[in-house]
Amino acid sequence: MKPRPPAGPPSASAVPARLRPHLALLASFLIVFAAGYSLGLLSSSTRPPSPSRPSQTTAIARPHAAHLSAVPAAPDGSYARSPPHDLFRFKEECGEPVPGDAVVRTLLDKLFDGESPYAGFPPAHAAALLHPAAARPRGWGSTGAVFAELIAAVRPAVILELGAFLGASALHMEAVSRNLSGLSPPPAILCVDDFRGWPGFRDRFRRDVPPQRHGDALLLPQFMANVAAAGEDAVARVLPLPFSTASALAALCDWGVYADLIEVDAGHDFHSAWADINLAWAVLRPGGVMFGHDYFTAADDRGVRRAVTLFAKVKGLTVRPHGQHWVLSPKPPARGDDDAR
Ligand SMILES: C[S@@+](CC[C@H](N)C(=O)[O-])C[C@H]1O[C@@H](n2cnc3c(N)ncnc32)[C@H](O)[C@@H]1O
Repeated sequence: MKPRPPAGPPSASAVPARLRPHLALLASFLIVFAAGYSLGLLSSSTRPPSPSRPSQTTAIARPHAAHLSAVPAAPDGSYARSPPHDLFRFKEECGEPVPGDAVVRTLLDKLFDGESPYAGFPPAHAAALLHPAAARPRGWGSTGAVFAELIAAVRPAVILELGAFLGASALHMEAVSRNLSGLSPPPAILCVDDFRGWPGFRDRFRRDVPPQRHGDALLLPQFMANVAAAGEDAVARVLPLPFSTASALAALCDWGVYADLIEVDAGHDFHSAWADINLAWAVLRPGGVMFGHDYFTAADDRGVRRAVTLFAKVKGLTVRPHGQHWVLSPKPPARGDDDAR
């Protein structure tokens, strides 16, 4: 009988000769790894806190930008997580009022080098691209009863529309006000729109807008063609202001261009509607009325409705739903106006 080998781990001599060089390599790797790991642990527990990295108890690092220096610091030197309240406030006072009958001339001078944008319109290159002007361009609730009702009640000298698209509601207001007896001269109708539409709008409006050219949506020339087709009165009174609502409203406020009736129908998400309503309120004359579209439509997604409802609450106004539209109670006189009388 052969003697049994002793029990226990196999000695180097027990490992087959062909594996022995690999065993040495593995042993050296384990030693280097263990040493590196211990050194890392040691250094991380002894390093002082980095001045450039706030510890978890510091809310936000001190801002370096000068414009943020107004952010109030808490006693411990940290900064509030919410932005300062003045960023949420809207300007409420605008420039000395331009008389209603001088508004179009003022805007032609300020924005169009003193010349009507309709002069010589359309140029040959645009004419070749445009759709035949539509007598009644497509819109959304653009001929609702609310327009005639408010124009008759307010008898505006200046109407401001935010969101004009192809001119459906602007041209309806032009026709209504032209035919309203006793409203003389008929109002100027200022149409603020960046004339870019929104991503994908073309899919639904292939019959109404020409194919874009070099990224230009061509909404402005199509809007102008529709106005021009409505006649000279429309050309004289319906003025496109081809800018974002925020920049146009800021300029109107600075220049003292006020409106008696304002229709809000541009961006329909909460933030756009909220900004538009607040900025436009500053250029609404006391006694004037603001109204808008999409209080109850599916397109609203409650953005417009929530903005209107919140605004009314903040200002102490009432909201009157009117079909798809909303109408705010008239703007009260400015504080101090009553005392002056
Ligand atoms: C619903 S359409 C207006 C429809 C028009 N009121 C009618 O009844 O025919 C909305 C328009 O608002 C414009 N718009 C959206 N956001 C805007 C912004 N921030 N500034 C300027 N125009 C904007 C779009 O280009 C679009 O033409």
